[in-house]
Amino acid sequence: MKYRLALAAIAAGVSAQELYITTTGYTARPQCTAAAATPSYRFDPFEYSQNETVRYATSVPSPTTIFTFGPGSAEALEIWGTSLLTTTWGSWLPNQTHITATDTDDKYGQAAWSSQWQAASLVNYTGVGLYTSTVSPTPVPSSELVLPPRDYFGPTDCYNFPEDFMFGVAASAAQIEGAIGLEGRAPTLMEKLVRDESPKDYITNENYYLYKQDIQRLAAMGVKYYSFSIPWSRILPFTVPGSPINEEGINHYSDLIDYVLEVGMEPVVTMIHFDTPWYFLKDTNMSAAADIGYTNGGYWHPEFVDSFVNYGKILFTHFADRVPLWTTFNEPLLYAFNFTGIHNVVQAHAELYHYYHEELKGTGKIGFKLNNNFGVPKNPENQTDIDAANRFNEMQLGGFGNPLCLGEQYPESILKTLPGAEPLTTEQLDYFANSTDFFGVDPYTATVVSAPDGGIEACSKQNMTTNSLYPYCTTQETVNIYGWNIGYRSHSYVYITPTYLRSYLNYLYSTFRKPIIIGEFGFPVYNEASKDLTDQLFDSPRSTYYLSYLSETLKAIWEDGVHVLGAFAWSFMDNWEFGDYESQFGIQVVNRTTMERFYKKSFFDMVDFVGARNGLGYPREK
Ligand SMILES: *[C@@H]1O[C@H](CO)[C@@H](O)[C@H](O)[C@H]1NC(C)=O
Ligand SMILES: *[C@@H]1O[C@H](CO)[C@@H](O)[C@H](O)[C@H]1NC(C)=O
Ligand SMILES: *[C@@H]1O[C@H](CO)[C@@H](O)[C@H](O)[C@H]1NC(C)=O
Ligand SMILES: *[C@@H]1O[C@H](CO)[C@@H](O)[C@H](O)[C@H]1NC(C)=O
Ligand SMILES: *[C@@H]1O[C@H](CO)[C@@H](O)[C@H](O)[C@H]1NC(C)=O
Ligand SMILES: *[C@@H]1O[C@H](CO)[C@@H](O)[C@H](O)[C@H]1NC(C)=O
Ligand SMILES: *[C@@H]1O[C@H](CO)[C@@H](O)[C@H](O)[C@H]1NC(C)=O
Repeated sequence: MKYRLALAAIAAGVSAQELYITTTGYTARPQCTAAAATPSYRFDPFEYSQNETVRYATSVPSPTTIFTFGPGSAEALEIWGTSLLTTTWGSWLPNQTHITATDTDDKYGQAAWSSQWQAASLVNYTGVGLYTSTVSPTPVPSSELVLPPRDYFGPTDCYNFPEDFMFGVAASAAQIEGAIGLEGRAPTLMEKLVRDESPKDYITNENYYLYKQDIQRLAAMGVKYYSFSIPWSRILPFTVPGSPINEEGINHYSDLIDYVLEVGMEPVVTMIHFDTPWYFLKDTNMSAAADIGYTNGGYWHPEFVDSFVNYGKILFTHFADRVPLWTTFNEPLLYAFNFTGIHNVVQAHAELYHYYHEELKGTGKIGFKLNNNFGVPKNPENQTDIDAANRFNEMQLGGFGNPLCLGEQYPESILKTLPGAEPLTTEQLDYFANSTDFFGVDPYTATVVSAPDGGIEACSKQNMTTNSLYPYCTTQETVNIYGWNIGYRSHSYVYITPTYLRSYLNYLYSTFRKPIIIGEFGFPVYNEASKDLTDQLFDSPRSTYYLSYLSETLKAIWEDGVHVLGAFAWSFMDNWEFGDYESQFGIQVVNRTTMERFYKKSFFDMVDFVGARNGLGYPREK
């Protein structure tokens, strides 16, 4: 309770001295009541007595009941009151530079499809990997499912996961699918994101053809929820309302969803995960700097809102019957580009929320997931640092959370800092209020925040060219006030900061007042990619990360009263990390030559932790 109050104090912008206790002496051991006065030395007969108990992973049980979460396609179309045009476009084939087509008069024809690819001007994207058709899954041999030796230290808590808790694993399309120019998919921002010298998203893990095997491997480990993203450009190669639907794309994801259900798991769909259709960026100079976030996802485009809402309705029309959990936007701030982008995301999300619950009468849950590594004040006794941390968190979360959770105005920090920012009208606030079922966040780590030299106010009046800290205008560090790292370091920006996760969950629930979903969390072990396979598989630091984060999540639930609705481990296998394969966030290794997958120790440790705490075994919830 004290803990909760202290956080509320931070959120309220008052000093939070309770959080910061200076003490001396050794770690207390209240659990150790008695100790023998002297050891009793002796020569006992020796034998190799450390028999290891062999245990196997427990696979998900076969489904017994099929639940539905909305109308089937025919009924959904009737509710929408529209008819949809469906067609196919085919594929870029190996060694084929372009498809010859004569239907040049058709603005949505084969020739128009091909010319989108040519206009995107990519190198070598017609290459394919090992597979060009769906691979039939084979059962995972039991020899792959033997649990690894335990780590010596681990959580000792006695909490269970509540009945509504959803534990799952996640990945995104561009990072695992490959097959970018096949079966009618059109180009996206992801193909343009990285320079030609860096690995591209063209082939990655070939999950587009290996999805059944990948799902089978998750089911064998007992994972209940599978979170994936659908690329807009596979469903609507021409992006806009009124353009035809790609039948091959719809069939692919329909089949994927059916397969997830068939093995006893649940599908979780993200509508956009950085893979904006190329359509919105075709006229943009991609090398010009973005003025917020690190790149431009075209969300500011005048046609974006209507097009996204149309795309979302098409997904609902085909899949709402079978999907219990929807995420409209993944980490939208990163690609929002400017205030128009933020506002468009809020508008599009709210329209889909209202449509899903009010028109379609969908009974699943729909929300968004935001990026923000929790900003904690460098000196929690210094009001300037507390103000800086508040601003850091508020600017990244409040643009979406204020209107969509609370029906409240955009934060002052956004209105005063971003050019062209305009407050919402009362009508808009009423429409946006309460239009999310959950607050999703990807809380990978925590970061130490303080005010910059010269202060926040002065910086907020500048721009990205004149001040590199703009628009957040806060200093970010990885060390605390005594110079210690905030936690154990990974291969990239992630540090192991479990106690700050608990603190963060408290901050989020107290601020935005919606159930929280940890949409992604994960840890790239330092230098993992350069290790031998057996050493990569024995990934104890990743186990420490996952078990400590889940343990602190349980404390937030049971001791602090925070409603956490689920957690999704990122990623279910090593993948394309936007231009490299070195930052390995996976709980499986992927051999990039053979495309074989191998379970890492942390995967076993995590499902064992969650399963032992009732987090895997509940029957499907309506
Ligand atoms: C080790 O396993 C063997 C074979 O199952 C059994 O006979 C023996 O009692 C075990 N030893 C210990 C110390 O558990
Ligand atoms: C494209 O592929 C060709 C043939 O494999 C190769 O010679 C060339 O270096 C590749 N270009 C890039 C930029 O990868
Ligand atoms: C794109 O932007 C870059 C960086 O601002 C600039 O150097 C380049 O000339 C621009 N290209 C075009 C075609 O406008
Ligand atoms: C708080 O931190 C700011 C900026 O680092 C500093 O200027 C100020 O003196 C500090 N205030 C106190 C009370 O220590
Ligand atoms: C956001 O960027 C787009 C594209 O450059 C521009 O048209 C729009 O006016 C910008 N919005 C604001 C509020 O600056
Ligand atoms: C928001 O929605 C919840 C759940 O439907 C409801 O209990 C609550 O009253 C709503 N709040 C407002 C301000 O409309
Ligand atoms: C991938 O598998 C092949 C064939 O088994 C093997 O020769 C190669 O060493 C593996 N690659 C890595 C990086 O382990």
